[in-house]
Amino acid sequence: MQPIYEGKSKQVFAGSEPDTYLIHFKDDATAGNGEKHDTLLGKGVLNAAISNLLYDYLTKNDVDTHLLKVLSDTDVLVRQVTVIPIEVIIRNVAAGSFSKKYGVEEGSALKSTVVEFSLKDDALGDPMLAPSHIYALGLASDGDIARLTSQALRINELLSALLAKCGIRLIDFKLEFGRTSDGRLILCDEISPDSCRLWDAETNKKLDKDRFRRDLGGVLEGYADVLERLKAVLL
Ligand code: TMP
Repeated sequence: MQPIYEGKSKQVFAGSEPDTYLIHFKDDATAGNGEKHDTLLGKGVLNAAISNLLYDYLTKNDVDTHLLKVLSDTDVLVRQVTVIPIEVIIRNVAAGSFSKKYGVEEGSALKSTVVEFSLKDDALGDPMLAPSHIYALGLASDGDIARLTSQALRINELLSALLAKCGIRLIDFKLEFGRTSDGRLILCDEISPDSCRLWDAETNKKLDKDRFRRDLGGVLEGYADVLERLKAVLL
């Protein structure tokens, strides 16, 4: 079967039921907008398991998501959405591009939570968007932005609390949202160590994709650690 869409770490196929997609988690790891690429055998299974646990937890806490059914250890059935081409990034602690851009040491506390938007466009390097850019480009309405922001902050509260129970600090993460055929904005895409910075609460050891981006080694070990800790708390 040919995918309808192939991303850097996932493939999207037509689903078995109307208004659904099948998403397959791949073992590919990329960084620097695809400049660095590797295949990490078992990453797809780990990310699918972590994302499914987090989605299940969010659903139980009344967050509307695309997840309908787990089909296998790498495949999920999801509600069809039109993805809003905006990455919503939440930052609880300075790290990554924020530290670089604003000259703030990684790990520094922030006086308040940062909600950041960027255009989902690899060719352009995912440039940051202010709300006025979003309106000018016709990407989303005022009401949509308010909804994306409130949902992202709610998800941040829920995930930060859950991960704290696992001895993990949620440093920052990226979310995507999509519109259903009946007009609702719901959470889509994965939430995994590929899309979050996760640091051990005691040692600040990185358990996320920065291990791959920065050649720290032990990428899958970090992901497996996150999964085991989540299972211990949730299952
Ligand atoms: P950044 O510090 O590189 O801007 O990343 C912030 C967070 O968002 C980090 O947890 C990684 C995640 N992220 C993605 O998952 N995909 C992306 O394309 C970008 C830019 C960030």
